[in-house]
Amino acid sequence: NYEAKVDSLMQLMTLQEKIGQTVMYGGHWDQTGPFVGADNGKYIREGNMGAMLNAMSAKGTRDLQKIAVEETRLGIPLLFGYDVIHGHRTIFPINLGLSASWDLKMVEESSRIAAEEASAEGIHWTFAPMIDVSREPRWGRISEGAGEDVYLNSVIGQAYVRGFQGDDLSQPNTILACAKHYVAYGAAQAGRDYHTTNMGEGELRNVYLPPFKAAVDAGVETFMSAFNELNGVPTSGNKFTLRDILRDEWKYDGFVVSDYTSINEMIQHGFAKDSIDAARIGMNAGVEMDMMGHVYRLHLQKLVEENKVPEAYINEACKRILLAKYKLGLFDDPYHYIDEEREATTAYKPEFLTKAREIAAASSVLLQNKNNALPLSKHTKKIAFIGPLVKDESDIIGNWAAQGDRGGKAVSVFEGISEYLNSNQILYAKGCDILKDDDSGFKEAISISKQADEIVLVMGEDHHMSGEAASRTDLKIPGIQPELIKKIREANPNKKITLVLMNGRPLNLSDEVHLVDAILEIWFPGTMGGAATADLLFGTVNPSGKLTVTFPRNVGQVPIYYSMKNTGRPIPESNPKEDYKSNYIDVPNTPLFVFGHGLSYTEFKYSDFKLSSENLTFSKTIEASITITNTGNSDGHEIAQLYIHDKVGSVTRPVKELKGFQKIFLKKGEKKTVTFTISVEDLKFYNSEMIYGVETGDFEIAITPSSDFKFKYSFQLQ
Ligand code: IFM
Repeated sequence: NYEAKVDSLMQLMTLQEKIGQTVMYGGHWDQTGPFVGADNGKYIREGNMGAMLNAMSAKGTRDLQKIAVEETRLGIPLLFGYDVIHGHRTIFPINLGLSASWDLKMVEESSRIAAEEASAEGIHWTFAPMIDVSREPRWGRISEGAGEDVYLNSVIGQAYVRGFQGDDLSQPNTILACAKHYVAYGAAQAGRDYHTTNMGEGELRNVYLPPFKAAVDAGVETFMSAFNELNGVPTSGNKFTLRDILRDEWKYDGFVVSDYTSINEMIQHGFAKDSIDAARIGMNAGVEMDMMGHVYRLHLQKLVEENKVPEAYINEACKRILLAKYKLGLFDDPYHYIDEEREATTAYKPEFLTKAREIAAASSVLLQNKNNALPLSKHTKKIAFIGPLVKDESDIIGNWAAQGDRGGKAVSVFEGISEYLNSNQILYAKGCDILKDDDSGFKEAISISKQADEIVLVMGEDHHMSGEAASRTDLKIPGIQPELIKKIREANPNKKITLVLMNGRPLNLSDEVHLVDAILEIWFPGTMGGAATADLLFGTVNPSGKLTVTFPRNVGQVPIYYSMKNTGRPIPESNPKEDYKSNYIDVPNTPLFVFGHGLSYTEFKYSDFKLSSENLTFSKTIEASITITNTGNSDGHEIAQLYIHDKVGSVTRPVKELKGFQKIFLKKGEKKTVTFTISVEDLKFYNSEMIYGVETGDFEIAITPSSDFKFKYSFQLQ
């Protein structure tokens, strides 16, 4: 019974000590590693700090914890938080890539391994998962989420929470998860980071809030308020989202931390007049821990004394933070995450690396495979590998990569393919850099391309081009890489060319689809990325990933996503260019690659769709099933997607919505039937009165390999 323990501890605490629990500062590092900075030592001793950001390693956390436990009046342990986003030491694909595996087990396994490694270095808490739905490829942080879909972000977010938090938080290999960034951060105007978001409450509730509600249902222990404003109110001072929805409607009982100085930033937003005002607004709105802002430490006590912040809010915040520390077992043993031996033996365990290789392969998406350019044969005489990312061991790790090694531990594509080919079969040229406009390497690249039987280009973005504060207005492959692709095609009009892409967002590949035969999207695949890529290139592993975000034809189509509305003037199939219809005069409405798209080296045939009944009722479910046959020449995984369209609603409904999926393995020639159970729960949405419910009427349904299809079947709800 932690509540009783917390209550009796809080009886002993002064107001200032309670406020101290709501304060988080950052750890210090120098060449020798982590050290206790004078300021931190002072704040801890004074009882003015409850948590620390970026403090890690057994030694670093022990030194800090010792001060908290031995040199403060009540000996309350500190909480150490760190951004463990897609792995800690063993790095998995960036989250957008991992989502393309559509594999909840893999998501859970990767975050379990990340928790094992991070907790072995004294970390109690990660600021993940990011479950911001985003339909904005210009936004750099699209790389950190699960893409554009509401359902996928919800179930993938839950899988991360299960992996990080495990079954028993008191075990020292589990860490607190954090649902971030609450809320609507992924809808920043024009994709510019930290920017304004404006949307009706219906869109907020139907699109941006559901993944957060799903995280609450999965038991996520903490939330992070965001940087953006929402309809004029910064989300770190937003009583409506933080108290009315999160606390009153959802009954959430974990604690909320601000993003890094996001409480202070309400001053720049023009919402708080100074830092005192910001502290008042933040705590009153329901942000219970101040990350790096210093405003709670400096101002809350006075604000309570002046009755501008209810003391009850401080008590609530302190209680929730202490409860988290109890759940982690820190009051039983404040040092139980601190174990030098575990630290020395956990990182990069062979089984973690094997998993990372498997997961990186499952996360890659074969976007195009003309002329069966892939898989490559090990017996090809000479293959030219060209591009700035062939030998890279740093970008491959991606952004927000915690303590992931960008050197010796990372397996480059070059190292990966060297497992398959002898050195005399490999030709290599860098060709150019990602960002420099220097084409002096083109000559060598073109020359080796001519000597080769086949060509593989490994190109894409630099890892700094996605993640926080990395928005782009241009979605093309950066720099002069596109020029090099063109030149290589011109020099080799009849050779098979494969483009392997590393990037953190959907790119505009409108030119490249015509210039190369195959395109393999590997995202930033992590520590074992090069080995996994080679497994896919040579067909040891059959590609199975599918896009969780739409790839536009050009940036002008953005936002473009599969679950759009129909408009009053949808384009007629017979003449998509018809005047006075909702279209463009220069490009089609369709994207280059749709949500859910991804090829395999084998083929899957969908047949025999069945509905158990065409009448769904409020009390009975119906079943939809389809048979999938592997009709090609190799074994493979297929991801079958269930879409539903609510034809008429009291508010307009998307043209299609993903409501489920199943990933199955089929041996060559094998067939399986996949079945989905549909209930009224799957059809609910918020109407214009913000009532969550279902409306009777007609619904269309399909089980398909991607979101590119026309509905043929329907059912009714009466
Ligand atoms: O967790 C992050 C957040 O996503 C962006 N700002 C900084 C935080 C802590 O590092």
